Amino acid sequence: MKTRITELFDIEHPIIQGGMHYVGLAELASAVSNAGGLGILTGLTQPTPKDLAREIARCREMTDKPFGVNLTFLPTVNSPDYPGYVDAIVDGGVRIVETAGRNPQEHLPKLKQAGVRIIHKCTSVRHALKAQKIGCDAVSVDGFECGGHPGEDDIPNMILLPRAAEELEIPFVSSGGMADARSLVASLALGAEGMNMGTRFIATKEAPVHDNVKQAIVAASELDTRLVMRPLRNTERVLNNAAVERVLQKERDLGDKLKFEDIYNEVAGVYPRIMREGEMDAGAWSCGMVAGLIHDIPTCEELVGRIMRDAEALIRSRLGGLLG
Ligand SMILES: Cc1cc2nc3c(=O)[nH]c(=O)nc-3n(C[C@H](O)[C@H](O)[C@H](O)COP(=O)(O)O)c2cc1C
Repeated sequence: MKTRITELFDIEHPIIQGGMHYVGLAELASAVSNAGGLGILTGLTQPTPKDLAREIARCREMTDKPFGVNLTFLPTVNSPDYPGYVDAIVDGGVRIVETAGRNPQEHLPKLKQAGVRIIHKCTSVRHALKAQKIGCDAVSVDGFECGGHPGEDDIPNMILLPRAAEELEIPFVSSGGMADARSLVASLALGAEGMNMGTRFIATKEAPVHDNVKQAIVAASELDTRLVMRPLRNTERVLNNAAVERVLQKERDLGDKLKFEDIYNEVAGVYPRIMREGEMDAGAWSCGMVAGLIHDIPTCEELVGRIMRDAEALIRSRLGGLLG
C-alpha cells in the first residue's frame, strides 16, 4: 500500500508505533521497522543524551530499516536537556523524529538542517495547523480515545480526522483507538494516510515490558480506562487500578485546589516499576480504550502482516462488494 506517509518515511506499510515511555526501546522499535512499519524509540526514557545515542546505535544493529525517535515536550518536574537529545538524534544519523507535547519550533532548525523529517503528534486541528505552519512534514492526529495525553478538547477521531482532512495540506496519520485492519481502512476513509498505534504495540511479543503489562491489556475492556489530572489541565488516559482510584478520590476531594504534589506518589517515576517489574498497582500508566479490541500477544511481524492482509480483503471484498 502506497500513501504519502509510506513515501515520506520510506516504509513499506503505513503503520507507525508511537513513542511510549519505558516501552519504546530498541527491541520494539526495531521489530516494528523490520515488520515494514515505522518503529520509534522514546527519547526521554533514556536518562541522558549519551544513553539515547547508545540506544540509537543498539537499534541500528537490530534493523537496517528506517526508525525514528520520539521527543516529548511535556510538563516534567525537571526539564530535560532537549538540545542534548536533539544532538544525539542528529549525530546518530536518525532521519525521523516524532515530536509531541509543546510546540517543537525552537528545535526544528537543527533537525531540518540535518535532513530529519518531523511528524508532530497533536490532539487538535489548531495545533496540527500550527505544526504545518512551522514546517513539520506530517502530523499524527491523536483523538480523545488515545492512551496517554488526549489534550483537553475531547474530540474523538470520527470527528477529528475528517476535520483534519478538511484543513491540512501536509499528510497525517490517525492515532488513538487504532488496533487492526478496520482501524486502518477507516482511517484512510476519513482522510488519513496511515495510522499510529501505542497500546496495541505494547501487547506484542517483542515489547520489552513485563508480561503482567501485556496480560493487563489483553484482560482489559474498553470500559477500563480513566482520565486523570484533568484539574491540572494535563489530562492522561490510564488503565484503572488502585493507584488511579486514589488519584481520582483526591481529585474529587480537593477540586480546583489539587496540586501536582498531591498525586506525586501515584504519577511520578512509576513507569520503571510497572513496565520492568510488573507491579501493576504501582501508579498510573497510559493505556488506550483500544485495550477492548486487543485479545492476543502476536509478534510485530504477525500483527503488521495481519493488518495489511485484512485491510486488503476489507477494501477489495467487503467495501468493493458493497458496490456490487
Ligand atoms: C504506556 C504508554 C506510554 C506513552 N508514552 C508516550 C510518550 O512518552 N510520549 C508520547 O509522545 N506519547 C506517548 N504515548 C502515546 C502514544 O505514542 C500514542 O500516541 C497513543 O498510545 C495512541 O493511542 P492508543 O494507545 O489508543 O493507540 C504513550 C502511550 C502509552 C500507552
